[in-house]
Amino acid sequence: MVADYSSEAGRATGPAHPLTVLGLETSCDETAAAVVRLSTDGGATVLSSVVYSQIDEHAAFGGVVPEIAARSHVEMIDGVVRRAMDEAGLDFAALDGVAATAGPGLVGGVMVGLSYGKAVALARGLPLVAVNHLEGHAVSARLGQKVAYPFLLLLVSGGHCQLLEVRGIGDMSRLGSTIDDAAGEAFDKIAKALGQGYPGGPALERLAEGGDDTRFALPRALLGRKDCDFSFSGLKTAASRLAQACETEQDRADLAAGVQKAIARQLSERAHRAMQDWREVRGTVAARPLLVVAGGVAANRTVRAVLEATAAKNGFDFLAPPMAYCTDNAAMIALAGAERLQLGLVSDIDVAARPRWPLDEDKALSDPMHKPGRKGAKA
Ligand code: KG4
Ligand code: ZN
Repeated sequence: MVADYSSEAGRATGPAHPLTVLGLETSCDETAAAVVRLSTDGGATVLSSVVYSQIDEHAAFGGVVPEIAARSHVEMIDGVVRRAMDEAGLDFAALDGVAATAGPGLVGGVMVGLSYGKAVALARGLPLVAVNHLEGHAVSARLGQKVAYPFLLLLVSGGHCQLLEVRGIGDMSRLGSTIDDAAGEAFDKIAKALGQGYPGGPALERLAEGGDDTRFALPRALLGRKDCDFSFSGLKTAASRLAQACETEQDRADLAAGVQKAIARQLSERAHRAMQDWREVRGTVAARPLLVVAGGVAANRTVRAVLEATAAKNGFDFLAPPMAYCTDNAAMIALAGAERLQLGLVSDIDVAARPRWPLDEDKALSDPMHKPGRKGAKA
């Protein structure tokens, strides 16, 4: 159920003076650094955003190899940060703070970016902000466009699939999440079964272009349940079996189109439920409500189109981040860091890297639904 928050607390208003923050992201297979300025009106400007993708280093293994990722982050981070500072045209003295992803993610990689952030903070006497990677995705739609809190967020990436109510930075609650695979993981695994490379999402989207999305009947998960949870393992198993029987390129394209439609439909059905809950609790008191989709899967055009139509049906506005900020990047980490800095939420220099870190930690700890072992490994 969506909580009733009728106050204006958490709305996006800006800091007393502009805050310029260096952000670092190393939680998976992208080494990224960015400089973002949060202005007094609450708007965010990306001064630079550099992303080094390790995809080629992992491609032969069909997925991300943690040890390779961590070593590659060590090799690349210095150059990536230098480029981000050069492209922003700034010296370290112009920064107000440094923000680094501290989890959740592959902990070897997270430690690289976080340690680098600590070194910059110590050397330059800057405040350090440890950022939850998911909070970065949650604010990513605010990069390049004005988005006020609160909003409903569908966070769909390779590791996560959740619906959240976002009232402000550090103030989010989860309405539902996947009980097995994340949506991006389903895209990746089914794409692999269809003979596509890694990452599978973009490849499957391309393959689906010439496909008939009505040809294959695919299972619909958790039908009849009234909550906002997701499940993709049944679809993955069914689609992988069908993939083995595909003979022609047209067969594969039809299956890819069907899978893409099935994933988009499940995302939109759960988002529809969350929007109905939101309406029940808030009624028409709030300004026109907003649905935001973020994370790598938000780059998918079918997913965006289906969600946009569902939002319109529910009287919600719809927004997705610019394409460059859907997949992992450091601009979203810098912005989350700047918003935390504005609120005085800085971190101790000995803050630890965390492989797991739910956004709504209190609920995750207290609600048996979210006890370890009950949800998917990365949910
Ligand atoms: O947000 P992200 O870069 O990393 C995580 O935090 O997980 O998301 C990566 C995921 C991958 O599973 C990838 O296949 C998926 O996002 N993805 C897509 C598309 N672009 C990336 N899935 C479907 N269609 C796309 N165009
Ligand atoms: Zn991510």
